[in-house]
Amino acid sequence: MAVDLGGTNFRVCSIRLNGDSTFNLTFSKVAIPKELMVAETAQELFAFLAEEVKNFLKKHHGNQFEAYTRRRLTMSAPGGFRDEHIFRMGFTFSFPVQQIGINKGTLIRWTKGFDIPDAVGRDVCALLQSEMNKLHLPVKVAALVNDTVGTLVARSYTSPGKSGAVLGAIFGTGTNGAYVEKLSKIKKPLSGDYDNSTGEMVMNTEWGSFDNQLNVLPSTSWDKALDEASVNPGIQMYEKRVSGMFLGEILRLVLIDMFKNPKISFFKDEDSNSNDWRSTTNVGENSSLFKQWGLDTSIMSVAAADNTPELGTLRQELESALHVYAPAQDDAQAFKAIAGAIGRRAARLAAVAIGAIVLQTGKLADPGLKDEPVDIGVDGSLVEHYPYFRDMIHEALAAVDGIGEEGAKRIRIGIAKDGSGVGAALIALVAAGMEERHE
Ligand code: BG6
Ligand code: GLC
Repeated sequence: MAVDLGGTNFRVCSIRLNGDSTFNLTFSKVAIPKELMVAETAQELFAFLAEEVKNFLKKHHGNQFEAYTRRRLTMSAPGGFRDEHIFRMGFTFSFPVQQIGINKGTLIRWTKGFDIPDAVGRDVCALLQSEMNKLHLPVKVAALVNDTVGTLVARSYTSPGKSGAVLGAIFGTGTNGAYVEKLSKIKKPLSGDYDNSTGEMVMNTEWGSFDNQLNVLPSTSWDKALDEASVNPGIQMYEKRVSGMFLGEILRLVLIDMFKNPKISFFKDEDSNSNDWRSTTNVGENSSLFKQWGLDTSIMSVAAADNTPELGTLRQELESALHVYAPAQDDAQAFKAIAGAIGRRAARLAAVAIGAIVLQTGKLADPGLKDEPVDIGVDGSLVEHYPYFRDMIHEALAAVDGIGEEGAKRIRIGIAKDGSGVGAALIALVAAGMEERHE
């Protein structure tokens, strides 16, 4: 089994790995209620997750669940349940953790709008396990996995090349990447329980927090305003310029500035002579455009996909989703241009992180791999749904020193759909094998 917390939805899945690069996946997903993202206690959030696991088991594995419950109620002898009756679960928890064992890790900080201070510093596997135990679920959290690590592993399983996938990356609500590094190159002292027999280790880079000091990242007044109004100012500065949770908000802040500027005729209500900038627009006063986080990044995909001169689809969307009355073609064109610039900046910044990892692994320069593609597995709503995102990344990669046009052509960026669930299940399987060897 695998559960996945940290994207748009909480997902529960069970996966049959066929052992031949294919798999069968059954899953359910549910949006995390906003109030649980900022709950008082971690227990509230984890109890909700455990309840979802229970619903999933009853719906999709009812027979096993009932058989387990019968056994639990009738077997009183110690060790009455045998381990093989218990599902091994990979827990994809897509936040920064200090991982101290295969199924043990403490939360360093929340990202992506979650803010439950009570959970920081606690072992998230133990939190989930304890809530599942309260419901008597036949499940053991066997492995803790970041979504990027899951994506890397899944991509290596489904498209095994000579050197596997070099990078697993997420461009969704948040952004991050994981790759395989040589232990000899890791400068940070390593703690906890790890196996050094291969001389390598999977690194979760947490690149979302790259350059929080803003030494090199581009920064505009809108980036600054977004950050100051966020739950974690000064943190995840790269992520706040690249990922899906934030791009719509940057666009919204730009639009608000344009509305406020009397010299710019943009989405204006020609008949209004009010002093309130809201009333001088042709945007309905209840439009979510006027609220923080009110502009869903998905409208940027609509704008990028509409390449007709009249922009009919985009104008319709502006009207229905944002309550803009009869948007003019010029206004829609301006909207498309601004949204496009924000999306393109995100893709070019994404290329910086991808390019850096590709160069760090040395795969492009390795003569033994010169005819091989450099394979990258990606997942997340932005890279999946924003048109031309991967094309823009490729265009930017060609401009990176040390990669160039020839190098960029060898970099293959493929969607690892549902990657982290499959990856987490694979890692849970490995963890179960490790347990058996230790017994
Ligand atoms: C999903 C993965 O497909 O993509 C998740 O299974 C990941 O683990 C998610 O977090 C990211 O996308 P989004 O857009 O839901 O944040
Ligand atoms: C955030 C999290 C990170 C995760 C990424 C993508 O950056 O901190 O752990 O991988 O989002 O979901």
